[in-house]
Amino acid sequence: MRTIDSLGDLSGKKVLVRSDFNVPLDAEKNITDDGRIRAALPTLTRLVKAGAKVVVMAHLGRPKGKVNPDFSLAPVAARLGELLGQNVKLAADTVGEDAHRLAAQVGPGEVVLLENVRFDPRETSKTDSEREELAALYAALADVYVSDGFGVVHRKQASVYDVAKLLPSAAGELVFKEIDSLSKATDNPQRPYTVILGGSKVSDKLGVIDNLIEKADRLLIGGGMAYTFLRAQGYEVGKSLLEEDQIENAKAYLEKAKQKGVEILLPTDNVTAAEFKADAPASVHPADAMPAQEMGLDIGPQTAERYAQAIADSKTIVWNGPMGVFEFEAFAKGTRAVAQAMQDACGFTIVGGGDSAAAVRTLGYDETKFNHISTGGGASLEFLEGKTLPGIAVLED
Ligand code: 3PG
Repeated sequence: MRTIDSLGDLSGKKVLVRSDFNVPLDAEKNITDDGRIRAALPTLTRLVKAGAKVVVMAHLGRPKGKVNPDFSLAPVAARLGELLGQNVKLAADTVGEDAHRLAAQVGPGEVVLLENVRFDPRETSKTDSEREELAALYAALADVYVSDGFGVVHRKQASVYDVAKLLPSAAGELVFKEIDSLSKATDNPQRPYTVILGGSKVSDKLGVIDNLIEKADRLLIGGGMAYTFLRAQGYEVGKSLLEEDQIENAKAYLEKAKQKGVEILLPTDNVTAAEFKADAPASVHPADAMPAQEMGLDIGPQTAERYAQAIADSKTIVWNGPMGVFEFEAFAKGTRAVAQAMQDACGFTIVGGGDSAAAVRTLGYDETKFNHISTGGGASLEFLEGKTLPGIAVLED
């Protein structure tokens, strides 16, 4: 993969950077987790120090090809400016007059941000020629291109894929670090290799489960998706999240794991409540005695202990997806237990996925105690699945 070094002396050069600034915002448009903006700093500060004129592209949410102020990158520009210690001007458009004006004005060591690339329907178009048309407009803004939005490298989109073919292009520091770290789980991982999967849906994790049964030694399953697996084993799951149409798949995975000698650990107890509410009274029940009128909102203490033990006993550990509704304190203990066990583990620890990375930060864990916290949700999953990521393939020699 080509790195920034391959682009030569960048002093005075106009560098177009694709970052992933898809950060969560609250109702007042405050950024609730700026991890992705901070993760972009190594590349941006390197370019600033090199005297490059930096033009950054990014998306926020899915505005579906329409200009929509609710998805403006204004809060990101403000936060990026604070973190870089310089004013970051935001263009009012992406490839229009204002983008050209700012790109022409940006000085060496300065950074400007273009407005949300997804305001233009061509960015995410499935028609190659439409994306290529937009990519040519992006390319006209700069001399070279740096791909640093790891969270979008699985997307064949104009600002990720097509533009990289039009300018001298290279991976930024973040993309390089992500691939380097995630490869530790895909290329001859140290064993035992344990993967913890959580989050709400089995259907979101089909590819990764299928692939990991071939590679991992153990899969620990928690979060909403665990109830579909428990149901597949014949347990009643009350009002818990259940994907009826995935029960057969879950059964097939359990069977395949048995044949391959891969251990699948499922919750043996759960924290349940009658309602999905932060203050709903919570109680713990064994997996074979789930109250019919309640829903599982977290793994129980016995399960948390078993999972922590399995993590402690592993040499490579990948975690994707929370164990419960960690946003509600009463249902955060399982996710905390996994985060703590990962933090204490001697093995190589990778936290993948937007939600689990956010959980580590919002629950107050020290990020430096994990070997790698990925900024990619879908991108890190697809990488672990062994898929070719278009935004990476285009940077290979
Ligand atoms: C993410 O949030 O995982 C990335 O920013 C990609 O967003 P997308 O799923 O809308 O392409």
